[in-house]
Amino acid sequence: MEQNEQKKTVFSAVQPTGTPTIGNYIGAMKNFVAMQDEHDCIYAVADLHSLTVDIAPAVLRKNVTEMTALFLAIGIDPEKSVFFVQSHVHEHAELTWILNCYTQFGEARRMTQFKEKSAKAPENVNVGLFDYPSLMAADILLYQTDLVPIGKDQMQHLELSRTIAERFNNRNGATFKVPEGVLPKYGKKIQSLGNPSAKMSKSSADANSYVLVLDTPEEIRRKFKRAVTDSDACIRYDPETKPGVSNLLTIYSAFTGKDMAASEKDFGGKDYAYLKDSVSDAVIEGLRPIKERYEKLIADKAYLTAVMKKGAESASYRARRTMSKVWRKLGFVRP
Ligand code: TYM
Repeated sequence: MEQNEQKKTVFSAVQPTGTPTIGNYIGAMKNFVAMQDEHDCIYAVADLHSLTVDIAPAVLRKNVTEMTALFLAIGIDPEKSVFFVQSHVHEHAELTWILNCYTQFGEARRMTQFKEKSAKAPENVNVGLFDYPSLMAADILLYQTDLVPIGKDQMQHLELSRTIAERFNNRNGATFKVPEGVLPKYGKKIQSLGNPSAKMSKSSADANSYVLVLDTPEEIRRKFKRAVTDSDACIRYDPETKPGVSNLLTIYSAFTGKDMAASEKDFGGKDYAYLKDSVSDAVIEGLRPIKERYEKLIADKAYLTAVMKKGAESASYRARRTMSKVWRKLGFVRP
């Protein structure tokens, strides 16, 4: 019996567009680590995806190295999981082309992120931006993935990946596993600290609206102090009428591991200043070991390169197996 045959395969990726926010961390990356012991996990830095927005070569290069260090710093163990950089495995680009032919124009056009990103940068509505979900589907389907830990904003893309897989399987016979998305218990959509009705995102113009996982304790405290709440001075979880306070409670629960009832209880009779202080403490303490490990890892470029290389080899092996099935099913003549 092959090793890992009983385990479910997990795949997810993060774009190297700068230091992740605590939204990326709570919504997805924290789950990457949690799933590592029980499952057969494959994680990637989605560098090809980041070309859909304007990114300078020097920035891309720096970001990929930093993201690699960060994956390891949050606790991804390259001995347990496969960790690699997307562009190091050329099958991702190859399968994207094929899946393009299994994706309807209308489906891609309906993607919320495509609409939002094109509205935000009307001068650069490139075909890659439009095609982004096919590349994401290729990432997932190449590894016969069962589970995809993501935040809520990626769920629509995951649904499209499922549609593409089912369409391909219906036309060509069983080829791809149809994956399922996995959302975290708390924090599938961490909201902006400045505007709690919007998603926390580092592309926001307001740098105080997001906390980055490598922010200093002073920055973290300052940002939470300024977080928008409401005027009724009561701490309870109610995202509809109290989005700011609920967002803070969610962040608190995610970092302390307490369930929401226990978190609410911690703040009975307390004021918002106390809540903000406590959230800051929990986030600072939770990020401290990550920052410490990161500082060591980022100084060891040779190790990071070795990790990337080993991961690319394991991922390539698995990707090749799926691709040979795909070529065969479609009738391609192979050399
Ligand atoms: P990216 O790089 O934008 O974000 C990485 C992960 O973080 C989640 N996320 C959030 N979760 C909760 N609250 C937030 N405010 C928040 N902001 C971001 C995202 O949902 C995501 O899970 N296309 C993907 C990367 C990707 C991918 C894949 C993911 C490429 N190929 C295959 C899964 C499977 C992206 O741009 O995520």
